[in-house]
Amino acid sequence: MAGRLQGKVALVTGAGSGIGRATALAFAREGARVVVADAEAAAGEATVARIREEGGEAAFVRVDVTRAEQVAAMVAQAVQRYGRLDCAHNNAGILGQPFQPLTDCSEEAWERLMAVNLKGVWLCLKYEIPQMVRQGGGAIVNTASTAGLVGSAAFPLYAASKHGVIGLTRSAALQFAGAGVRINAVCPGTTRTSMLAQIVQADPRFEAATRARHPLGRLAEPEEVAAAVVWLCSDAASFVTGHALAVDGGLLAQ
Ligand SMILES: NC(=O)c1ccc[n+]([C@@H]2O[C@H](COP(=O)([O-])OP(=O)(O)OC[C@H]3O[C@@H](n4cnc5c(N)ncnc54)[C@H](O)[C@@H]3O)[C@@H](O)[C@H]2O)c1
Repeated sequence: MAGRLQGKVALVTGAGSGIGRATALAFAREGARVVVADAEAAAGEATVARIREEGGEAAFVRVDVTRAEQVAAMVAQAVQRYGRLDCAHNNAGILGQPFQPLTDCSEEAWERLMAVNLKGVWLCLKYEIPQMVRQGGGAIVNTASTAGLVGSAAFPLYAASKHGVIGLTRSAALQFAGAGVRINAVCPGTTRTSMLAQIVQADPRFEAATRARHPLGRLAEPEEVAAAVVWLCSDAASFVTGHALAVDGGLLAQ
């Protein structure tokens, strides 16, 4: 059976780890040629190696999503190598210092978090969309969070950045719907990645507490978030744009 993304070219940022790696692998399994983008070369190359082991096609591009010239070059390299860009998962993100009252956060911490999580997504949209418009369409998914839909006492600046990602997603979807570019966000609940490990390091009680808050009684696997991203990028979601899809085990249904 042909994959749902057969013949497509897909790009994933933050593809060296966690949710981004799972999406890159899932895109490849659906038949897409994948541009694996990450700030960490060894991690990104490891994702490419995994895809090739499975018989898929992928290439690594090093990118710091906070740098406009690097994001422009990432999109240009994808098009140079594979001829087009059909799907993009703008997923690179950082957590910042967990459990810090916002009154104690530094200006530098604010600027770094907004640069990666919010400006990074905007820069990706800025350079991906014109390519998709030239081709007559495309599909983009930005990684927000459940902390983009409700406030978070544990991660206040992070929550602000992810609310921004959802605002940007909805606005971009409105601006480019007429050009055939669908733009959505995925909002994962707590997912078992190195970001979770970072939180658990700060407070070992976090994992059991957050598991208990998710009605399905467990945390998300990165592959479960990737499955939603693949669906949003596929033709099965052809009438879905401007949506923020919670993949959260029922967390926000409460
Ligand atoms: N893990 C969770 O519980 C969870 C929940 C909701 C949302 N998210 C979001 O999912 C996304 C992926 O996170 P994850 O949990 O897979 O974390 P992760 O730390 O496993 O992966 C993040 C990846 O992004 C890369 N990255 C970081 N800064 C970058 C930059 N400036 N430029 C390019 N790449 C950069 C890292 O090198 C890493 O490979 C993030 O946007 C995160 O906020 C995670």
